[in-house]
Amino acid sequence: MNAHVAIKTKDVSPYEHVIDTRQFSPEYLDRLFAKADEILDNNKRGYDHVLRGMVIGIVFYEASTRTRFSFESAVARLGGHRVTTENAEQFSSSVKGESLTDTVRILSGNCDMLVMRHKDDDACERAYPFSVSGHNRCRVPMINAGNGKEQHPTQALLDAYTIKMYHGRLHNLRVAIVGDLLHGRTCGSLAYILSKFPGNEILFVSPEEFRIKQGIKDHLKEHDVDFGEYTCLAPVVKNIDVLYMTRVQKERFASEGGVKEKEWYAAQDRINLTQKIVDSMKPKSLIMHPLPRNSELPKCIDNDSRAKYFEQADNGLPIRMALLSFLAEGIR
Ligand code: NCD
Repeated sequence: MNAHVAIKTKDVSPYEHVIDTRQFSPEYLDRLFAKADEILDNNKRGYDHVLRGMVIGIVFYEASTRTRFSFESAVARLGGHRVTTENAEQFSSSVKGESLTDTVRILSGNCDMLVMRHKDDDACERAYPFSVSGHNRCRVPMINAGNGKEQHPTQALLDAYTIKMYHGRLHNLRVAIVGDLLHGRTCGSLAYILSKFPGNEILFVSPEEFRIKQGIKDHLKEHDVDFGEYTCLAPVVKNIDVLYMTRVQKERFASEGGVKEKEWYAAQDRINLTQKIVDSMKPKSLIMHPLPRNSELPKCIDNDSRAKYFEQADNGLPIRMALLSFLAEGIR
């Protein structure tokens, strides 16, 4: 990550932009989660002064339901205005050949913060230096709402918040992260956030061809996080605190040819969750999923008391409200 992402502004807002899950400190997470708790205690009401007079650009180059809706709802509940495009790949000047950095430079001239989802792994990393207003050369905080296969920092925030909500801690946890770990950006982002706390162990479960990326394994080694890699779900779930399921990211490997799809379907019986596997889990473990789901997470599990994926999705709103309000403090 480029060093000047993490320049401190005011005390309440330690980061100028939200680009990479690695940028959050445990202290920042504590404060953010306390703010999200307070927002929930107040039933998300009473915050419509926070973004008053501000315009937030919400630009999605990739499909989204949860992330875009919760950002839009967060801005509305904080009293800000939204300028949005949900299909920027078709409706922005990228169809005319404009570069992403030029587009960001123009968008940021029209708003006070910019939330962006993009298919390129490094889109926000490349674009945030261009997120400035031309009138006063003022920085316009950019928030990464999911970039390619690499980063989904606000998902990692709400995932960690959900784990803390039910387990009361983010340390000394055994977490299984399951699915298409090679292409899924939420898997690596969760691993990065868990690496900030002591005593966590991560069990990565995926078909052989969809293993977690080497860069993430290197990061975990550097931070002394225990982890293992497995190709079958059933034997690993007995003693875990969190089961984090994810879907196959077919749209991301279309360009790699059809081979991977065949490999995924050949392996899916070893990876998909079943009632029998759930029955072998501890009564207090959590079943999570960033959603959307495919066949890896059957609906029959929805009524199990351990299934928390809808609560997890709901947590996107207070977390994004807290995040936007911290960023707003930094630019007031
Ligand atoms: C995830 C994403 O976009 O990476 N969805 C989400 O934001 N909740 C997971 C996915 O698409 O599989």
